Amino acid sequence: MWAPRSNAKMVMPPLAHASDRSSPSYRRLRALGEQLGGGVNEIRSPTAGSNCGGEDAPAELLPIPGWPEGLPMYEFVDVPRFEPGDPAALEHVNEHGYAVISVLSLEECAIALSKFWRFIEAAGHGVRRDDPSSWTDEAWQASLPPTHAEPLWFVRGVPKVAKCWEGLLGTDELLVSFCGAPLNRNWSYNNQWRGGGGSFHVDRGAYYHPGLGVRIPYGLDDRDYIQGTVTLIDNGPHTGGNVVFPRSHKYFRYIAETYHRPMKEQHAYINSGSSLPAAMAAEPDLFGTPIMAKLKAGDAFVWDDRVIHGTCCGKVRPPNDASAPLFRAAVHVTMSPKSLAMDEALETRKLALEQGVSNGHPAHHPIPRRNFESAVSYFASGTKIPAPPLNTHQMSLVA
Ligand SMILES: [Fe+2]
Repeated sequence: MWAPRSNAKMVMPPLAHASDRSSPSYRRLRALGEQLGGGVNEIRSPTAGSNCGGEDAPAELLPIPGWPEGLPMYEFVDVPRFEPGDPAALEHVNEHGYAVISVLSLEECAIALSKFWRFIEAAGHGVRRDDPSSWTDEAWQASLPPTHAEPLWFVRGVPKVAKCWEGLLGTDELLVSFCGAPLNRNWSYNNQWRGGGGSFHVDRGAYYHPGLGVRIPYGLDDRDYIQGTVTLIDNGPHTGGNVVFPRSHKYFRYIAETYHRPMKEQHAYINSGSSLPAAMAAEPDLFGTPIMAKLKAGDAFVWDDRVIHGTCCGKVRPPNDASAPLFRAAVHVTMSPKSLAMDEALETRKLALEQGVSNGHPAHHPIPRRNFESAVSYFASGTKIPAPPLNTHQMSLVA
């Protein structure tokens, strides 16, 4: 029987898959893990003896706080995995709205994870990687790395990450978004950390308006960008993560015109607070069943900016051997062709780098001047973190 863990100091279990342990990559990773203070068991999902609801052991579904009434629970599904540059990846995005593309090695995941923990522990709020009792809400929130912290730039700067978007966008002249990094604690230590779900939305504006300042106006039938999240840890039905409605980009125009028309002139988003609940209640068959793709550490999960999506918590109890400190560690990465950015966008991106400001998902949209000043003062009063020294490749992604 699963039971909540005590807040005792963790004992890291061995990796579940014995066959993996004899492989050179496993031995290399274990050595790296020992050196970095983590290990393979922090990024590989435990499965042996698990009660987490894999194919071999269907598990009881837990209610998800905030889940829309009548909406089918998301399915945790196998999906194809592509290499960066494979044209089939873009075809999958075009047809299904999303794709999974392998961008980081396990070694790079372990290094990134170690950098996250080093940042969190150095923040000075008492959080320690091996002590769940130190992961209190207050200390945790105060310790999380902002957008220009070194671990995020490390992930953005891995060449295969840019190769991923190069293959999707057809250019190697790219800008990267200054987004955040979701880091979710292992909620088997504290049920309050599990979270909720159901805040489905589309991040892009439903309707283009000139104030956005992008070089090429987009319409309801156009994709403006391909957004994504790079995961450092295997996911599972217990971990939580990105949930999408496959093929929802294909009926984006219909939803916008049918349920969003009153807000047409306001650059309105199709979000959880307006159109989508009404549409889901009126036409549930249109949406179908949402999915969470099975991801391995190092995968980028990318999706068309018109795809309806949200972050949802795990839907089953964690496996008994889930002792890794984090259930989710990822970096939101969205890249745009540099050619789409106007001069204002390039200018404010350089300022954002210097002054520790985030810019949301579409990297080619300018941070409006009026918002930029308030963003600067916000970060300056809190945890303003200037970017670390960037290499040539990372700098090329700024402006
Ligand atoms: Fe979003």
